[in-house]
Amino acid sequence: MSLSNEKPPHLRLGVNIDHVATIRNARGGGHPDPLKAAIMAIEAGADGITAHLREDRRHISDEDIDKLRSQLPSPLNLEMAATVEMLDIAVRHKPHACCLVPEKRQELTTEGGLDVVAGHNHLTPYVKQLVDAGIRVSMFIDPDFSQADASHSMGADVVEIHTGTYCEAVIAGDRPKISTELERITKMAAYASGLGLEVHAGHGLTYGSVGPIAELTDIVELNIGHFLVGEAIFGGLDSSIRRMRALMDKARAESGGQKSA
Ligand code: PXP
Repeated sequence: MSLSNEKPPHLRLGVNIDHVATIRNARGGGHPDPLKAAIMAIEAGADGITAHLREDRRHISDEDIDKLRSQLPSPLNLEMAATVEMLDIAVRHKPHACCLVPEKRQELTTEGGLDVVAGHNHLTPYVKQLVDAGIRVSMFIDPDFSQADASHSMGADVVEIHTGTYCEAVIAGDRPKISTELERITKMAAYASGLGLEVHAGHGLTYGSVGPIAELTDIVELNIGHFLVGEAIFGGLDSSIRRMRALMDKARAESGGQKSA
C-alpha cells in the first residue's frame, strides 16, 4: 500500500457476455438473452460490455450485436478478427471500440495475443479504416514491448494485455511463474502507457487473480467474461459482477494512485 494521498484513477470493468450466448445457443431459442445480461451487468457496476463476434458465430450472433447497439446506451467493445466481413460489420454498427484479436477456427478461446509485428502490413489498413470511422481501436497483445511499438506505430488507441499466462500460473499455484508474469505485465503496462496508448487487460481473470492486475494504475480497463458467467451459476450474475467490481475497487484503492514502475 502506498502513502500517497492521490486518489487512484477509476478502473473500468468491461463484462464479456459471450458465454451467455454460448448457453443460449446450446438449445437455440432466445434464453438466456445476452442483452438482458448486458443490462444487468451495467446495473451491477460494469462500465461497458464486450462481445466477440466470431467468424463461426459460435456464441454472439449478428442479431445480438444489432440489439446491443440499438438497445444498450453503454459503451460496446466489439472483439473481432481483422477480416473484411468484420470490418464491414464494425463500420456499420460503429461500436465505441473494436478490439482486434487473433482468431483460429479450432481454438476454444483466444489463445494468445495478436502478432502485430508480423501482421503489420495486413493489420494497418484495418486499424486505419476503423479509426477513420470514429471507432477506438484496441490491439489484444501479449506483454511484449515490440507488440506495443507496432500497435502504436499503426495508429491504435489502445492495447489490451493478454493476462492468460499469468492467470494459468495463479490457478496452478506456480509462484515463480506468477511473479515473472506479473512483472512482464507491470513493465508492459508502464511501457505502453508511456507511448501514449490506453492500456487494458484481460483473459482468464478470476476473483483470485484480479487483485494484482487491478493494482496497476497504468491499466484503465479490465475485460472479464468466462469466470463471471461461470460464477453466475452459483450466485447469480449480479452478485458475481458486484463481487468482482468490489475486488477491483479495493485493489485499486490500496494501490494509492501510484503508477506502476
Ligand atoms: N479480452 C479479450 C480480447 C478476449 O478475447 C477475451 C475472451 O473473449 C477476454 C478479454 C475475456 O476473457 P475471459 O472470458 O477469459 O474473462
